[in-house]
Amino acid sequence: MRVRPADLGPLAGAARRAGQALSTPITLARQAGLIGAYARLAGWRTAPFLRWAARWDNLFQAGAGATRIGCFGPAPHVVWEVTQRCNLRCAHCHASGGPQAAPDELTTAEARAFVDQVVQAGRAGWGARILVFSGGEPLMRPDLLDLIAQARRGGLAVFLATNGVLLDEPLARRLKALRVGVVIGLDAMTPDLHDEIRGLPGAWEGAIRGIETCARLGLYFHLNVVATARNLDEVGPIIDYGNRLGAYSHFVYRFVPVGRGLEADALRLDPTQLGRLLEIIADRQRHGTAIVIPVALPEFWARALRERGMGDARRIEALGRSFPGCQAGRGLTYVKPDGAVWACPFTPAEVGNVRREGLEALSRRLEEAFAAPACPDAAGCPWGAVCGGCHACLGAGEPCALGVAGDTAAPRMAGESEARKDYG
Ligand SMILES: C[S@@+](CC[C@H](N)C(=O)[O-])C[C@H]1O[C@@H](n2cnc3c(N)ncnc32)[C@H](O)[C@@H]1O
Ligand code: SF4
Ligand code: SF4
Repeated sequence: MRVRPADLGPLAGAARRAGQALSTPITLARQAGLIGAYARLAGWRTAPFLRWAARWDNLFQAGAGATRIGCFGPAPHVVWEVTQRCNLRCAHCHASGGPQAAPDELTTAEARAFVDQVVQAGRAGWGARILVFSGGEPLMRPDLLDLIAQARRGGLAVFLATNGVLLDEPLARRLKALRVGVVIGLDAMTPDLHDEIRGLPGAWEGAIRGIETCARLGLYFHLNVVATARNLDEVGPIIDYGNRLGAYSHFVYRFVPVGRGLEADALRLDPTQLGRLLEIIADRQRHGTAIVIPVALPEFWARALRERGMGDARRIEALGRSFPGCQAGRGLTYVKPDGAVWACPFTPAEVGNVRREGLEALSRRLEEAFAAPACPDAAGCPWGAVCGGCHACLGAGEPCALGVAGDTAAPRMAGESEARKDYG
């Protein structure tokens, strides 16, 4: 005879309540385990790691509900480009941010309905508990703070990705009251270079003012840096600067030539520069006081395993479930200003629209669309399970960074499978 939960009467209710009560500690324990494993993998020194781990926000806010860590950090999470409008005009911008809004951006009513969808998905247990408001420049959207407040009331951990220029003290205080994590883009410690990349004199001063206001007022903040051929030597000093101010993490983006970046050939990283970038990230992660997440650079995880001499296929397969490298179809949902759903900011393959469909169906479609790894050599590469290659980079003809960081005589370009034997 099949026993239905209702037949168990009070017992079923007690079991459900116990399950609910245990779900938070179990999730937190899982997140703590994940981050501990990450630290070991990356060779993070014990003292700086413990200092970082002792900060509760790292578990509750940045790691909210995380089951995996990869490109773009914890998964699952949702990133929403709230508008294409922007006060800057960066040479590399994948979103082609500028003075104009994108055609058909979500209205306030549609935006509210979308935020509600994310809240409901998070509550249902299968969705993300983290919502990132990005852009364009999200501070150009007049209803932004109302939407953020709605997300916070719904229990989501919220982050705001901004270029920092409009981030003054009154706004920082409001964001702090809402417990919003602030992510600020900084591309150089040299003012002229940042301004050149960002397309506006004074952009550097604005970003620094925004960052230092957040630090002074005690906001939970982090830095975004885009590594290009123009600013590679600035990446380390930016991380050091953020660490001195108390940033909890750094996202180091490999420049991906998409959007307006398609026209920015001078920013492309060559194979030697990619190898150097991997070294800078690995070094700052080992010794720094904040977590460093490589974006569009899943080869970082493969490199970490190679550094540790780990080549056991079964272990690597198991690790790949927690550290999948590329997050396309593996927990990241990227929503464009008009509601179109992409796998990530750099892969313009639309699988549907939040105006017409629920997030569950859309995430399933993302999973199906990106089930196969980007790298044609992933199956033969010992570290394929923790990398998979970057769909966007390989699609844009960029080389595999691992081929250049290692001991191959000649840099390996995407698709040159004969170089596979050189991996180990
Ligand atoms: C599109 S911006 C939106 C938030 C905000 N306007 C800012 O600039 O920080 C988000 C992040 O993506 C980075 N980014 C933009 N285009 C990129 C590209 N082609 N490759 C790598 N990163 C890029 C930006 O520099 C920024 O750090
Ligand atoms: S990267 Fe950010 S600041 Fe720069 S143009 Fe794009 S949206 Fe604007
Ligand atoms: S396609 Fe590239 S940038 Fe996008 S999630 Fe995968 S590794 Fe990251």
